[in-house]
Amino acid sequence: MLEIQVKAAATIFEAEHGTQTGRYFAILIPQDDDLSSGICEMLDHRTNGALRRAAEITKFKGERDQSCTLIAPCPEIAQIVLVGYGEEANLTPNRIENAAALAVSLCKKAESVSMAYVGRAETFAAHAAYGATLGQYRFSRYKHDAELAASLRKLDLFVEDIDATTKQWARLQSIALGVFRTRDLVNEPGNILHPPEFAKRIETLRDIGVSVTILTASTLRELGFGALLGVAQGSDKEAHVAIMQYTHSDNQSDAPIALIGKGVTFDSGGISIKPANGMEEMKTDMGGAAAVVGTIEALARRHARANVVGVVGLVENMLSGNAQRPGDIVTSYAGKTIEVLNTDAEGRLVLADVLAYTRNIYRPQLMIDLATLTGAIVISLGHEYAGVFSNNETLKTRLVAAGETSGDAVWPMPMGPAYDREIDSPIADMKNIGSRAGGSITAAQFLARFVGDTPWAHIDIAGVAARNDAAPTCPKGASGFGVRLLDQLIFLHESGENLI
Ligand code: BES
Ligand code: MN
Ligand code: ZN
Repeated sequence: MLEIQVKAAATIFEAEHGTQTGRYFAILIPQDDDLSSGICEMLDHRTNGALRRAAEITKFKGERDQSCTLIAPCPEIAQIVLVGYGEEANLTPNRIENAAALAVSLCKKAESVSMAYVGRAETFAAHAAYGATLGQYRFSRYKHDAELAASLRKLDLFVEDIDATTKQWARLQSIALGVFRTRDLVNEPGNILHPPEFAKRIETLRDIGVSVTILTASTLRELGFGALLGVAQGSDKEAHVAIMQYTHSDNQSDAPIALIGKGVTFDSGGISIKPANGMEEMKTDMGGAAAVVGTIEALARRHARANVVGVVGLVENMLSGNAQRPGDIVTSYAGKTIEVLNTDAEGRLVLADVLAYTRNIYRPQLMIDLATLTGAIVISLGHEYAGVFSNNETLKTRLVAAGETSGDAVWPMPMGPAYDREIDSPIADMKNIGSRAGGSITAAQFLARFVGDTPWAHIDIAGVAARNDAAPTCPKGASGFGVRLLDQLIFLHESGENLI
């Protein structure tokens, strides 16, 4: 992870960590700034007026995402990057995160960057470190040539208020570690991260004070997890359910907030096999479970004042002589029977048992599940928003708000009895698919049949768990979606807001 140092703004030209090629400066600038602030004046002076000339030539106005780069403007400076963050009036932490991430990515080949702020950007100085950190993430475990590794090691933030920034950064760094944990898990291929290995990695959360329980397949069989085990039966890898408890509320006996995740480590579709094209993306079908793990990590690291339990269902959906057949009828943990008409609609089968079990054993005040559940949500919302479904309007509203603040955006989706009727079966209590129309909604209706009257929200992250292209705060691949969202929601809870 990028090393961050917070330093006094007044010392920016004293710092001595340039290489032979000179120092790298990244300056965040508000819209319509006239470059007359102390830092810009100084840089302009040192570069014999090149800063102002460059801004003029490139028509740099400090608009959002606008940038201006000066390469080797004088012997002691390798590069100056100006990045605009738009109007000061509607400044948000997110804008600073994106501007800072863009700024450091433009400092190509730099090992160390000095960042300074013009205007109100300093209010969110630590968010600049956060954005840059998130953007510099690389999954390099299996790539031997060094090209992939980010060269940037260190970011110095020059600020007026060192204490405030340092304090804010401590919290954000914990969240970044959670996001990285999630990205690492999602980026792992299915041959390495199968259910037993996933469970093993979850056990490492014990090191940061989380109590972890693993339910193995034989226990799940005794408990009656018939829906989850039906999905797992075609795979040679044993199914697991992992439970993570973080108990740190001021009142230890507070009912927990339950976070539930779909952890299909590879989804071939089963006998209802998927087309070959793009099937490799289904290694990310455990993105919900990974988000729960990353959130628990972030909460534990920042010592959140809350009681939270994370429960994830870990299975592999494969084909074999023992694989589940279309038409099979399974009995779920809740006792309800399900006609499995399509073995590729497996996520809801896993979640049905995990939701019912969590409700029964932990009596949570509310439950939120995250799942790469349907292709239909990708058709509805694309790759910008996850869809949120809920039986509680307040919870839904809070999630949308937490999405806006955190950058993990979620959009509210409808539910209702007409959708629910679609999953009635003539020969079992329900079937696992509706019609093609509204596929993400009928999937949510299916889950709703297992949550009873517990306030619950379902977040379909199929479109956002992994990216096909790089964004400023996220390279191509796993996004870590859900960690920032849930962390923010629990932060609202800690601040005394009603979530339900
Ligand atoms: N894991 C998939 C959903 C998915 C699709 C995730 C695209 C990420 C990207 C899920 O298990 C699935 O296969 N859903 C089916 C359901 C259908 C058979 C009712 C789908 O969406 O096609
Ligand atoms: Mn599937
Ligand atoms: Zn799936």
